[in-house]
Amino acid sequence: MFDIIRQLEERRARARAGGGKKRVDAQHERGKLSARERIDLLLDPDTFEEWDMFVEHRSTDFGMEKVTIPGDGVVTGYGTINGRTIFVYSQDFTVFGGSLSETHAEKICKIMDQAIKVGAPVIGLNDSGGARIQEGVSALAGYAEVFARNVVSSGVIPQISTIMGPCAGGAVYSPAVTDFTFMVKDTSYMFVTGPDVLKTVTHEEVTQEELGGALTHTIKSGVADLAFDNDVDAIEQLRRFVDFLPSNNREYPPNRPTDDPADRQEPSLDTLVPTNPNESYDVKELITKLVDEGDFFELKPAFAANIVTGFGRMEGATVGIIANQPKILAGCLDIDASVKAARFIRFCDCFNIPIIMLVDVPGFLPGTAQEYGGLIRHGAKLLYAFAEATVPKVTLITRKAYGGAYIVMGSKHLRGDVNMAWPSAEIAVMGAKGAVEIIFRADLDDEKKIAGREKDYQEQFANPFRMGARGYIDDVIMPHNTRWRIARSLRMLRNKKLENPWKKHGNIPL
Ligand code: HXC
Repeated sequence: MFDIIRQLEERRARARAGGGKKRVDAQHERGKLSARERIDLLLDPDTFEEWDMFVEHRSTDFGMEKVTIPGDGVVTGYGTINGRTIFVYSQDFTVFGGSLSETHAEKICKIMDQAIKVGAPVIGLNDSGGARIQEGVSALAGYAEVFARNVVSSGVIPQISTIMGPCAGGAVYSPAVTDFTFMVKDTSYMFVTGPDVLKTVTHEEVTQEELGGALTHTIKSGVADLAFDNDVDAIEQLRRFVDFLPSNNREYPPNRPTDDPADRQEPSLDTLVPTNPNESYDVKELITKLVDEGDFFELKPAFAANIVTGFGRMEGATVGIIANQPKILAGCLDIDASVKAARFIRFCDCFNIPIIMLVDVPGFLPGTAQEYGGLIRHGAKLLYAFAEATVPKVTLITRKAYGGAYIVMGSKHLRGDVNMAWPSAEIAVMGAKGAVEIIFRADLDDEKKIAGREKDYQEQFANPFRMGARGYIDDVIMPHNTRWRIARSLRMLRNKKLENPWKKHGNIPL
């Protein structure tokens, strides 16, 4: 008996040592934590239950039978974050470069299967050289098994990928399917095809960082949601982030009690919108004054910054906020903004999170680049996602709501529940200048006449009352009362029940 216990201790120690001191030191020298240090930071103290610590690979090619390391390059199990169960896998770069073997994949799949059964999120801490080269197709099959589970879990439990080292080749498709992808600056990268192959095939010369670093994916491609300075920063923010989410699609997000009064007035909002319609303002000021304690967790802040997406809370309950940003591209909707907002709305709808739309949109961005890029298809995603969503939906028009963009940004017609407007709202087919140039083309040479026509058009539409008269908005509210009016709307909507007709699934324009 004592012998077995001693063996157990030895085996545990061996597994915990990973790829050995030298490789762990090398990991630290790069500014990276080890797989286990990351889990320790992520989970509440002493809550980690590790599974499959003794699993070893079954490979016999290339002398692999002589090198086995218990755990096989990934630490898996479950624990809690602020008391709620979370499943986690953390790839260990010190063991075969964190590469994915058949058994490494089996370990990940085991916790994913269990997470679905109990309805708990899965967090992946990715740090891997990709498919275990010595294993060939078995490793590829392992990836495919993980991907299949990512897809089946989608919309059932939240899935978050945190890229903390290499993630290349087909391996990138697991994070791509998960709901959110976070990256660490300078130490992580993601690409389908690396710089060496690029050089040979396309003669492009780029560094790993330029091709797939954290800044590339959070600014240019939008593949990742956020870039963090280091592992500790990433994990701390991950803990904060998880608190906004429910554990699964049958639950609501945890309620966080707040002392922030729901009827808090914000007089400064009365002057947020400039009197000159061509001047911009920062919609984030409205958002932080709206939500509990000004706590807003923004996603993709540097990608398609003309639309703002993120989570906040109202009276302790999580809300998803989507807001046009007048400071960037005047808040126009373009391809990237449409896709960014559509995917965010779909996440909220999967996971019972009410949606607040803050609208100040002059229209869709004109131009050949946008049209050739498929603005029609991508803009339709936003329309589709909002109309399809059955969670509570509250829309506030602060200023412009023009044309098709008026419709897709949470209009009543797309099943918005509560639609309100500030007195500064103007809702029209297009801006006065463009409208007059079309309908009074014959008068174009007469500057004075045109100016008069513009003024007329402006007066007719530059107010919320035309909309109010039709019932397309439910009320015109004073900006300083915004938090209270939205909070009351959300209270009223708390027990909203709406089901779409039965279908296998819709056919969103992908
Ligand atoms: C087996 C691997 C490995 C891999 C790294 N190692 N990648 N072992 N399979 N894929 C091992 C190395 O042999 C080394 O072992 C240790 O991990 C650390 O690797 P280094 O190269 O020393 O580290 P570094 O210089 O930091 O470079 C990291 C790296 C590089 C850029 C990730 O290792 C690399 O290019 N690896 C191969 C990446 C790759 O092509 N993977 C396949 C992609 S295709 P020792 O014993 O010396 O410490 C793919 C398809 C997936 O993944 C398809 C899914 C559908």
